[in-house]
Amino acid sequence: MAFVLAVTGSAVGLGNLWKFPYTTGQYGGGAFVLVYLGCVILIGMPVMMSEILIGRRGRRNPVATMALLGAEEGKSTNWSWLGAIGVIAGVLILSYYSVYGGYTVAYIVKILSGVFSNAKATDVIAVRDAFEGSWVSVGLFHTIFMGLSIFVVARGVEGGLERANKFMVPTLFLLLIILLGYSMNTGHFAEGLAFMFTPDFSKLTWEAVLAAMGQAFFSLSIGMGAVMAYGAYLPEETSITTSAAAVAVADTTIAITAGMVIFPLVFANGLDIGAGPSLLFITLPLAFGQMTGGTIFGALFFVLLSFAAWTSAISLLESAVAWVVEKYKRSRAEAATLIGVTCWAIGLGTVLSFNVLKDFRFLRGTIYDNIDFLTINVMLPLGGLFIAIFAGWVMSRNSTAEELGGAGTSYRLWRLLVRFAAPTGILFIFLKAIGLLKLS
Ligand code: TRP
Repeated sequence: MAFVLAVTGSAVGLGNLWKFPYTTGQYGGGAFVLVYLGCVILIGMPVMMSEILIGRRGRRNPVATMALLGAEEGKSTNWSWLGAIGVIAGVLILSYYSVYGGYTVAYIVKILSGVFSNAKATDVIAVRDAFEGSWVSVGLFHTIFMGLSIFVVARGVEGGLERANKFMVPTLFLLLIILLGYSMNTGHFAEGLAFMFTPDFSKLTWEAVLAAMGQAFFSLSIGMGAVMAYGAYLPEETSITTSAAAVAVADTTIAITAGMVIFPLVFANGLDIGAGPSLLFITLPLAFGQMTGGTIFGALFFVLLSFAAWTSAISLLESAVAWVVEKYKRSRAEAATLIGVTCWAIGLGTVLSFNVLKDFRFLRGTIYDNIDFLTINVMLPLGGLFIAIFAGWVMSRNSTAEELGGAGTSYRLWRLLVRFAAPTGILFIFLKAIGLLKLS
């Protein structure tokens, strides 16, 4: 139970409420959602189970675990680089995750100030522009969010926060359901659902397929060793299959519900569906502003979202911190500060991407666009690919069957997916998209 809570805390975060809706909006809806669901089931689930079983067998930080298991299977200890790439991916993801975590904190304050009461779309967009345009504001809340994350990891008190998830994730979901009721009454609910659930494959590009796969990895927290690091604490007798399924169902339900809330609001208010990263921060304040009790309700919503982002940020720090502590014999406080400050500094690139450096573009766009693309569309899928290869081909049948509770039907299905479907699927999508990508 504690494990499922910790991994759910890691999985449920900005990926579900902030990134899933805006990426779905950018890539045209229905077909993207369908590919996303396919990726969660056929690639995400087997990779998540692999990460957990590798972590539990190794019982160390991801770098040391990969080296240990490589040796145990009579193969190379160089598999440790897979752990190392994961540590780097975690640092890069957290660098911008913290900036958007900062947005959620900032919006608690904004909602409480009453600026959104009876606001029109143009007012809400003006508030967003004023916030985003000021690197001092964005940077300040990025600093606060990162400071909080470092604090928790340094003190080693993640446990308390994760136990708090037991009521916070369900409460967040409950608020989403209430918001769903509001969306249903906008008069544009059907339009929103049609956008999400009517697949138009003629609009689906390979780049969108890659983005859907990357989003599945991001939302499930897999591909960089975070779940592996948590797996190290999992008791022998807990079922890995059941735990992974519980996390995947909770995570996916929340993402889909968030989309069902947000798209009707977009259509009802004539907003730009491809607005990008700030979509959530336009649609929801608008809805809260028009609701009775919206100030309190909205503030509560953003408080819960900040907490969800916080528990995710902590899991992004965990593998790097565990690695520094074990390898360099540092205290948790020193390791958390070192890694956290590094993430914070890299995050300044994202802070500046929306104001001072917004016209500084290369390859994929702004600094944020590039770090986002590199981590989500390159590092996580490739990390997942090698995790699948390791669990499916490098580890013996005996070792994996032992971790997954015997060689029954579900084991055989897992092994089929992790040996064939996941690796070929990831590689195919990746090469197809990269081959067709024009990088500038
Ligand atoms: N899954 C989290 C979210 O949806 C983000 C996250 C936490 C993550 N840990 C991760 C993403 C590890 C990739 C890898 O908000």
